[in-house]
Amino acid sequence: MIMVRRFKKSFDEKIVHRNVSFDVEAGECLGLVGGSGTGKSVILRSLIGLEKPDSGVISIDGERINRYNERQLIPIRKKVAYVFQGGALFDSMNVFDNLAYPLREHSEMTRSEIADRIREQLAEFGLEGSEKLMPAELSGGMQKRVGLARAIITRPKVVLYDEPTAGLDPYNTKKIQEMILRLKSKGVTSIFVTHDMPSAFAVCDRLALLLNGEIRASGTIDDMKSDPNGILQRFINGSFTN
Ligand SMILES: Nc1ncnc2c1ncn2[C@@H]1O[C@H](COP(=O)(O)OP(=O)(O)OP(=O)(O)O)[C@@H](O)[C@H]1O
Ligand SMILES: [Mg+2]
Repeated sequence: MIMVRRFKKSFDEKIVHRNVSFDVEAGECLGLVGGSGTGKSVILRSLIGLEKPDSGVISIDGERINRYNERQLIPIRKKVAYVFQGGALFDSMNVFDNLAYPLREHSEMTRSEIADRIREQLAEFGLEGSEKLMPAELSGGMQKRVGLARAIITRPKVVLYDEPTAGLDPYNTKKIQEMILRLKSKGVTSIFVTHDMPSAFAVCDRLALLLNGEIRASGTIDDMKSDPNGILQRFINGSFTN
């Protein structure tokens, strides 16, 4: 479903990605881990065309999107949802309008169909009755859940999660893990960027470690857990600064 080959990207003189290659199979959840500033968010943004690689290939569901213009990217962005690191809710809109926005923009649904979908989606996330609240009135954990609810309300085939559990208490973390697992059981393909290793172990099928501009280790969770001197273990133990 997702193929990245020889992805290179620099900002000014700073080389962030030297040579990044990985695949995500349909229905799989790939955990992408790596230190702060290694370029995980830039990879996710590139997968929906918000950043362009300097070179390399990005393919989504068989389409090479590297050189796609904004118009060509519209169907890709319907297929691939991005759950932003900060939630990225529209501050001036209440929860209902935040969730309605992508449906009004990207679907032919009627007003009552939209209202039904939003009610159903909020209930699934334990957010019943929060339609009228403004983002500023929500706790951080609720904001993240509303952000995730908005990202998946159009029923995308692929979901890119950018640190969805960062800063959350155990209850909200568990809720997010459950949502990701539920989407996976429906066949959604995903990439889960995180520093939260217990959540990565709970939801991902495979892990890939981004280090010094390359994927330095990848494998199933069991492979990586059972290799105690392995590179992933050293990353988790804090042996790498970047
Ligand atoms: N638009 C931009 N202009 C200039 N530099 C950028 C831009 N976007 C990202 N960078 C740089 O690219 C590097 C990677 O950024 P990115 O946000 O992808 O890191 P990250 O791995 O997601 O980090 P974190 O775990 O802290 O979220 C950083 O050094 C950042 O400063
Ligand atoms: Mg990031």
